[in-house]
Amino acid sequence: MRDRVSHRSTLFRESVIREMTRLCQRHGGVNLAQGFPDFPAPEVLKEAAARAIHADVNQYAITWGAKSLRDALAAKTAHFTGLVHDPETEMTVCCGSTECMISTLMAVVNPGEEVIVFEPFYENYGPDAILCGATPRFVRLREPDWTFDPAELEAAFSNRTKAIVINTPNNPTGKVFTREELEQVASLCRRWDVVAVTDEIYEHILYDGARHVALATLEGMKERTVTISGVSKTYGVTGWRIGYCIAPPALTSAIRKVHDFLTVGAPAPLQEAAAVALSLPDDYYQRLARDYQARRDALVPALEASGFRTFTPRGAYYVMTDITSFGYADDVSFARYLVEEGGVAAVPGSSFYADPNDGRQRLRFHFARRRETLEAAAERLGRLKARSPAR
Ligand SMILES: Cc1ncc(COP(=O)(O)O)c(C=O)c1O
Repeated sequence: MRDRVSHRSTLFRESVIREMTRLCQRHGGVNLAQGFPDFPAPEVLKEAAARAIHADVNQYAITWGAKSLRDALAAKTAHFTGLVHDPETEMTVCCGSTECMISTLMAVVNPGEEVIVFEPFYENYGPDAILCGATPRFVRLREPDWTFDPAELEAAFSNRTKAIVINTPNNPTGKVFTREELEQVASLCRRWDVVAVTDEIYEHILYDGARHVALATLEGMKERTVTISGVSKTYGVTGWRIGYCIAPPALTSAIRKVHDFLTVGAPAPLQEAAAVALSLPDDYYQRLARDYQARRDALVPALEASGFRTFTPRGAYYVMTDITSFGYADDVSFARYLVEEGGVAAVPGSSFYADPNDGRQRLRFHFARRRETLEAAAERLGRLKARSPAR
């Protein structure tokens, strides 16, 4: 009998992150697995969304995004980076930055061409590469501060390289790429004529004075960079599914075509509300970073006290941990134990590595949670060590 399903669809598995959320719901656990807030979205955004629905902005928006949102994105980008982009030819609004990434890779990469990805990586990039037929080439971010070896990066580039995916601030490590590191990436992109695809969805979530450097601001990069971001993390509305990519006109028109036939467009009334979000004053972003830093500073010591070794993040809202002291053979069985017996869900580290063995003693927690939720998690984690049987 013929296979009912495509070969392609068998090359990757269901998302481990989303699976952990379902498992957590089944066990009534505290979900520190899938990264989304459990606190309310800003009132002003909810009002703007309701207003748009009542004003009957309920039909398809322009395929590549409502003008109000693209204009707001152009103004915000100029404000934060100094880069001037044309909202008519250089911006595409998609269903989340998730769709931005797959639309971009489909628009840029031919089957068989290589895409460089820093590892550990946000798990979507693996299937994204497979879906567009690309061959991923991994470059390792090394503990404890997740730096890469410039020689390893250089060796990953060749005539086969079509694109490189960067994610800063980074999920899962919390690394914020420095200007110097990004200069190394940029110089190789220029030398090999490679497109840089940069996922900057955590651009405003930074700690301890870390600064976000937008890759497109580096010399010669604006014309070869696709910058991806969205409202999910910055404004705490992951369910709205609004993301955007900024790219030079030729890349943008290819991305818009793929996007059009994948989804037609992102939710119209929520695009209007997203335009309001992008126009919020600077102090919104300062408060956002401050609040997340307080959450980080609540969770990290609790993890340390419970037996995890932590890699303190400088950005984004995740913390990678080392679970060696618990004596489990692998991260997946420990994650199961943690949610079933400990009542806390986290993500097995192996889901961020091409070779699962590389993440066998790692677990990722997120802290986009109310103080009470983090306290409940800390209390449950505190009971762990005594109960965890050494295996
Ligand atoms: C690095 C990174 N990119 C993209 C996404 C998904 O973003 P969106 O909700 O805009 O699709 C996430 C979500 O966790 C993420 O961590």
